[in-house]
Amino acid sequence: MATQRGALGLDAPVDLDAPSLARIYDYLLGGGHNFAADRVVADKITALVPGYGVFIRENNTFRRRAVLHMLAAGIEQFLDVGTGVFSTRPLHHLAQAGNPDAHVVYVDRDPVVVAGLNLLVEQGDARTGVVEADLRHVDEVLDHAVTARLLDLSRPVGVVAGAVLHCLPDADDPTAAVARYYERLAPGSLLAASHADGTTLGLELAAAIEDCLAEAGITLVHRSEQRFADLLGPWQPHPDGVVPVGWWRPDSLTAPRPERSLGDAVMAGRRLQVPEQV
Ligand SMILES: C[S@@+](CC[C@H](N)C(=O)[O-])C[C@H]1O[C@@H](n2cnc3c(N)ncnc32)[C@H](O)[C@@H]1O
Repeated sequence: MATQRGALGLDAPVDLDAPSLARIYDYLLGGGHNFAADRVVADKITALVPGYGVFIRENNTFRRRAVLHMLAAGIEQFLDVGTGVFSTRPLHHLAQAGNPDAHVVYVDRDPVVVAGLNLLVEQGDARTGVVEADLRHVDEVLDHAVTARLLDLSRPVGVVAGAVLHCLPDADDPTAAVARYYERLAPGSLLAASHADGTTLGLELAAAIEDCLAEAGITLVHRSEQRFADLLGPWQPHPDGVVPVGWWRPDSLTAPRPERSLGDAVMAGRRLQVPEQV
C-alpha cells in the first residue's frame, strides 16, 4: 500500500491506492492533484463515456456561475459542502474577489481533501476555514467552532453542494440533510446544487459507471431531474428550475453538447419572511 502523510500534515497514513471521486474529477479537469489509482478509474469512465470530462467541466463552471450569482444577490457568507479538490480557482478566491469581506467555510469528509484545503487557505486568513465533517451531520457542521467563528447563521448563507448529493444513496437520506440546512439557515439563504443524471446515458451505461466506481469503493447514484428536485424538500427552486448543468445561466450561447446533460443543476432559496400587514 502506497501511503503519504508528512507532506499533507495528516495524523494517519492515507492509502494512495484507494481512488477518490474528488481526485478523479481533478484528473478529468486536467488538474495535478491526483494519483495513479484515480487516473485508472477516470480512464475507465472515459472509455465508457468519452465526453464525461465535458460534464465535469460544466459542473465546475456551474459552481463559479452560482457563486457569482450569490454574490450579486448579496450573499456574503458561503458554505461549500463536499468541496473536493480545486483544479481551478478556489471558491474563496472567487468570492473574496467579488467581496473582500466574504466568509467561506469548506466542508469535506475526506481527510486527504481536508488536508489539501488546509494547505490552500493562506496562513492568517481570517475569512476562510475548513471543517472535516460529513455533510449529513448538519448540526455538527453548523455548530463546529470554525463555522461558528466565520458564519453568522442569523444572516443568509450561500450553500454550495456541487456534485456531492449523488455520493449519498437514498439509504443515507440526503433529503433529510438538505431539509435540515433549510431549517437551520436564515431566510434569504441560497442553495446551489448539481447532481449526476443518468437519463441521457441510459440505464445500462449509467449502471456501468456506478459499477466501475463501486469496484473502486466509491458510491455514486445517478438521479433524474425529478429525483434530484425531490431531494430539495422545502428549498424553493428559482424559476429556471432544475436544468442540465451546462444550461444553468450559461456564460455564452455556445452550441449545446449532449454531455452537458450528464448532470443537472439548480439554484434554490429559503424564502424571505414577508412582514405581516397591519
Ligand atoms: C465529486 S467531488 C465534488 C467536488 C466539488 N464540489 C465539485 O463540484 O466538483 C465530491 C466531494 O464530496 C465529498 N463528499 C462525499 N460525500 C460526503 C459527505 N457525506 N460529507 C462531506 N463530504 C462528502 C467527497 O469527499 C468529495 O471531495
